[in-house]
Amino acid sequence: MSAPNKSYDPVEVEALQPQQIEQMRDEALAAIAAATDLDALAHVKTAHAGGGSPLALANREIGALPPQAKAEAGKRVGQARGAVNKALAARQGELEAERDARVLVEEAVDVTLPYGRATAGARHPLATLSDRIEDIFVAMGYEVAEGPEVEAEWFNFDALNISVDNPVRSEQDTFFVAAADGSEDSGMVLRTHTSGVQIRSLLERELPVYVIAPGRVYRSDELDATHTPVFRQVELLAVDEGLTMADLKGTLDHMVVSLFGEGMTTRLRPNHFPFTEPSAEMDMLCYVCRGESVGNPDRPCRTCSSEGWIELGGCGIVNPKVLIACGVDPQKYSGFAFGFGIERMLMFRHNVEDMRDIVEGDVRFTLPFGMEI
Ligand code: DAH
Repeated sequence: MSAPNKSYDPVEVEALQPQQIEQMRDEALAAIAAATDLDALAHVKTAHAGGGSPLALANREIGALPPQAKAEAGKRVGQARGAVNKALAARQGELEAERDARVLVEEAVDVTLPYGRATAGARHPLATLSDRIEDIFVAMGYEVAEGPEVEAEWFNFDALNISVDNPVRSEQDTFFVAAADGSEDSGMVLRTHTSGVQIRSLLERELPVYVIAPGRVYRSDELDATHTPVFRQVELLAVDEGLTMADLKGTLDHMVVSLFGEGMTTRLRPNHFPFTEPSAEMDMLCYVCRGESVGNPDRPCRTCSSEGWIELGGCGIVNPKVLIACGVDPQKYSGFAFGFGIERMLMFRHNVEDMRDIVEGDVRFTLPFGMEI
């Protein structure tokens, strides 16, 4: 090991000569002053104050000096580096303040400017009408019932006394659901009416049963001005002791008065449904001409084609076979039911001439109906 070199002159070490250090410092200060944004300053910082900067390299040389020279050189380099760091911090502060001021101006929001409103959607009038009908019956103490849209054939047909050879089961009307293995017979269909909810309600609930069941149903029809393969029905079922056709008629009259106003009434015409006995077709008085267009050529009515009545749907007294299928004693209980399509009601209630307008969901069709809460 050699003895320390007492005669070592720090001036001899090139990088540590005072004018060299001053030059490094001045170059650094000039670069700092010239940095016009924070990115540029970050580069200057790396170049002039980073580990590989000239001043840092000079600092490393100090270790090699003899002890008496170290202090002087250390002081010189330390002061230079201190000046550079101070200038860096000061410039950083200036540039940040400039940036903040600029952002405030550039990103200012003028809250008084008019803005482009996003157009609000609209509730579909079918949903509104369906809710209205529901409300009329909920107010009378009925409960809202539901069933699945992919329904077992037993609920959709068998339990409703619709025998296997009944034409409504045929493929013409019914969407049959394929089994998971691809075979045709899954025993499931897309429900063709909401009447299956009658069965579910009787099986699930305690007697007496008073339910209203709106919902989507499916039939293999082409979409045209008067048909759609997916539409909505409302089903009603009341099963209690002593219910008669008079209760059914009173309930129907109350519904049409609630929907179309005072003076409205209904009429029943004989018909046949497997799940009601007796069965009827229900018509309501034309709410536009109130029957006055009948036999009155001077006052024709477009809504009812001057017939005075508008066909609503089917109804009747629940067939005892249906009650038995649900384990209800027909000696003790009786019931009435009805079902009708909501699209049709929407069409004649609002003079909608094409079913496709209802189905397509164009907001320009739905908006004029407004909202009802
Ligand atoms: N389910 C029948 C249909 O889709 C309508 C119907 C008729 C429902 C008579 C009933 C009823 O509840 O009693 O055509």
